Amino acid sequence: MKSLIDIMELSTAEIDELIKTALDIIDNPAKYSEKCKGKKLASLFFEPSTRTRLSFEAAMYELGGNVIGFSEANSSSAAKGESVADTARTVSCYADIIAMRHPKEGAPYVASLKASIPVINAGDGGHNHPTQTLADLLTIRKEKGRFTDLTIGLCGDLKFGRTVHSLIGAMSRYTGIRFVLISPEELKVPEYIKSEILDPKGIEYKESTSLEEAMPELDILYMTRVQRERFFNEADYIRLKDTYILTTEKLSNAKSDLCIMHPLPRVNEISVGVDDDPRACYFKQVLYGKYMRMALILKLLEEAAK
Ligand code: NCD
Repeated sequence: MKSLIDIMELSTAEIDELIKTALDIIDNPAKYSEKCKGKKLASLFFEPSTRTRLSFEAAMYELGGNVIGFSEANSSSAAKGESVADTARTVSCYADIIAMRHPKEGAPYVASLKASIPVINAGDGGHNHPTQTLADLLTIRKEKGRFTDLTIGLCGDLKFGRTVHSLIGAMSRYTGIRFVLISPEELKVPEYIKSEILDPKGIEYKESTSLEEAMPELDILYMTRVQRERFFNEADYIRLKDTYILTTEKLSNAKSDLCIMHPLPRVNEISVGVDDDPRACYFKQVLYGKYMRMALILKLLEEAAK
């Protein structure tokens, strides 16, 4: 049963295929409105979510399917001590596909081993978030027209920010990609991202603490929220949370075709004044996420039917 746990499980050809489907859905929504008739998505969210959960649910409805599920761990039998594996086996009896978000790294993977239906990782702890990356990739394709020869600045919480980890993996497969990793010392990208992805693929990257210094060379600026829920200590969060705040002034020496992205939710790291800048792409990114999730649900259900 093919699941999607890590973005690297999709080849670049499969990503192109998903983008093609998403673009076709945008142009011809009626063609897709009954594709998942009679199918059910189980939306199992053990952690808070607005965009990911609602876009998965909207995606399934727009494909003519239905949705069951829960939006907090406390309303499921997890609160009684049920394992993720048993939840996955149970839900396989009711639904055709699962989207699961969980605070523990690896939980959707464990679910995929026990489920008899495809499992989509909708974010596992500070680890991965492959469907956010699909949204990010369609945004990059639409805004920049290419996946090659781009200098990408990733700014904020690069340690716990799972969207960053998946995006680095996905983009490291294209040529001419450079990363500028902008974070406080304490929130640098984990070593495994360097030793397992950046170094073996010979990707050019530099680490910096200064957003201002990096700004002029960036084609894409990917801002992230400091992940409060992953900190052991609230005082550290308070000290680090406002390290980077993107304002219109800070964009004064940015490229005129810079693409500003953010997986959202935003807390303080992009001032609302930036929202009116034509380079702000983060709300388009939200919409693209729904279309990519539609394309992904279609692909996994088709493969499951084979
Ligand atoms: C992200 C996540 O959940 O990792 N949100 C999202 O899915 N769009 C980013 C975040 O929570 O900061």
